[in-house]
Amino acid sequence: MIRIFTTADMDRILEIEAQAFPKSPYNRRIFANLHRSNPTTFLVYEEGEILGYLVHTPEGHIISIAVDPRHRRKGIGTQLVREVFRSSTGELIWVEVRETNTGAQVFYEKLGFLKRGVIPRYYCTEDAYVMVRST
Ligand SMILES: CC(C)(COP(=O)(O)OP(=O)(O)OC[C@H]1O[C@@H](n2cnc3c(N)ncnc32)[C@H](O)[C@@H]1OP(=O)(O)O)[C@@H](O)C(=O)NCCC(=O)NCCS
Repeated sequence: MIRIFTTADMDRILEIEAQAFPKSPYNRRIFANLHRSNPTTFLVYEEGEILGYLVHTPEGHIISIAVDPRHRRKGIGTQLVREVFRSSTGELIWVEVRETNTGAQVFYEKLGFLKRGVIPRYYCTEDAYVMVRST
């Protein structure tokens, strides 16, 4: 159900992205660059169709995650993050989360992440929490 992204998945990922981040979605070029930099750690969750994705670095930096809004709260995001715990080569997993994205903060806290710092204006006008967990 969780497998590595291929370029044939791009259109569906862009669809999920547009729904998850309507104000600032990553575009095709950004995803193509992410795929080039993280060819084995750009993951998709598939069950008939792709329902979610997660990109991370091999060391454990979660770059982006999104689940189709119609399929949230079914454990898909948790399964994707657990795959990072399983495969990361580093001792820490970390992610930046918008200060206003309280849903994602609760999601990561439930997975054992703690807020370890703030990066001012990480998202231009908005601060980010850095959330960290050991592997
Ligand atoms: C954050 C996100 C990836 C979570 O995916 P998901 O598949 O719905 O997560 P799960 O079903 O595995 O959730 C596990 C637990 O996290 C918590 N949680 C998840 N989403 C939550 C929300 N919006 N509000 C409060 N708690 C939430 C709940 O405790 C949940 O368990 P429960 O459903 O039994 O109560 C998804 O909401 C999403 O795509 N959001 C938009 C994109 C985004 O914000 N990405 C993160 C950027 S850093």
